[in-house]
Amino acid sequence: MHFDTIIKNGTVFTASDTFRSDVGIRDGKIAALAAGLDDADEIIDATGLYVMPGGIDSHVHIAQPSGDGIVMADDFASGTLSAAFGGNTTILPFCLQEKGTTLRESLKDYHAKADGQCHIDVSFHLILSDPTAYVLGQELPALVEDGYTSLKVFMTYENLRLRDDQILDTLDSARRSGALVMVHCENEDAIRYLIGKHERNGDLAPKFHALSGPAAAEREATHRALSLAEIVDTSIVIVHVSNRQAMEEIERARKRGGKVAGETCPQYLLLTADDLDAAELEGAKFVCSPPPRDKESQIACWEGLQNGTFELFSSDHCPFRYEDEGGKLNEKGKRNFRWIPNGIPGVETRLPILFSEGVSKGRIDINRFVALSSTNHAKQYGLYPQKGTIAIGSDADIALWDPSKKVTITNDILHHGADYTPYEGLEVQGWPVRVILRGATIVDGEAFTGAAGQGAYLRRAKVGVVSQNR
Ligand code: URP
Ligand code: ZN
Ligand code: ZN
Ligand code: ZN
Repeated sequence: MHFDTIIKNGTVFTASDTFRSDVGIRDGKIAALAAGLDDADEIIDATGLYVMPGGIDSHVHIAQPSGDGIVMADDFASGTLSAAFGGNTTILPFCLQEKGTTLRESLKDYHAKADGQCHIDVSFHLILSDPTAYVLGQELPALVEDGYTSLKVFMTYENLRLRDDQILDTLDSARRSGALVMVHCENEDAIRYLIGKHERNGDLAPKFHALSGPAAAEREATHRALSLAEIVDTSIVIVHVSNRQAMEEIERARKRGGKVAGETCPQYLLLTADDLDAAELEGAKFVCSPPPRDKESQIACWEGLQNGTFELFSSDHCPFRYEDEGGKLNEKGKRNFRWIPNGIPGVETRLPILFSEGVSKGRIDINRFVALSSTNHAKQYGLYPQKGTIAIGSDADIALWDPSKKVTITNDILHHGADYTPYEGLEVQGWPVRVILRGATIVDGEAFTGAAGQGAYLRRAKVGVVSQNR
């Protein structure tokens, strides 16, 4: 058999298997897995490398309107380029419905920003901020049929939060349409109360962001979201979980029969609230929600990645420039933490961090790495088995990792639009040295060898919460 490309001499890892095999690629798909393949236009020698499915990051914010003159640091060109260098071949950014607009209008704007710009494949989740009867009764069901099969709701942020009755209505519409709902769980009223208290005391530095969003506010909202899902009898994903108390709520809901998936992110493994207390205003670089917590929470999150409380490890990439009028240190943000835009960059560092801190340090094995970084995202959000595995017939989305390559993460080696990384100076072992999108090499060492606009938009299938291999 003749192939376009053969990857030879590597070790293949999927979420469930490890095997020595060549990979034959034809017309952008994996066409053969066997030893001794040799007839191809291009032979890639993967001696000493790990052959893994390209990463899928199912929690990414790009070019999302933020109001107040705040601008996100990545557009679709830079965000997807950065993702590619981080070993990813698909990302799922959010299309935000602004109040007073319909979902279709929001999608039209968002597609206009993305189409023709993407370096890797993308598919949008919706964010519902205005769940009117029209949106829930007519738009959402039709959009699910069009492949927009997941949406996020917020329990916090003044301009995004939904009331419990709105969440119930949204869950109900999602259940009937076959959409999966992701929930940002923090108690807005508790956070407002604490912000007000800190403001009255003149406590305005970045560290008071973390003190205004305590674990109890996350735990309470997680419990409430799970209860609302139980009442509607539908599946949900609890996103960006930061601490043990929220994890315990997820496990308790599962014991009651709840269908819930859990997600955590690199910031909850490597950062703590102390990072927000850095000298000058440097703490602003770490302002995100929920805030990073403490060492014990980091240990808890690792346990959750190991034992299956979490199926998903995502970046929650939400980049703002630090020294910028439209970024972290905007005029108001310099004076009061409540105006510092929430979110940190991380789409490029997610996988090297999980590989290094997880696989290289012996906390998880490589198959678990593949599950957490790629396969479970594809299964959860309706892309499997086209994406997320190395199998005959799947898209040839492959990352070749050098497990021994050591890299010191600094902002100048990254490709995002932010002017900093929260992980400056972190040494990692293990790096994606070649990234292949539907059969074409797009990243080769430090060179980008693909083209902007090659990223495809992916329609997704409907899936509830699927049970993952733990
Ligand atoms: O601080 C964060 N996480 N910003 C991004 C938006 C969100 O809540 O996911
Ligand atoms: Zn040929
Ligand atoms: Zn969120
Ligand atoms: Zn997010």
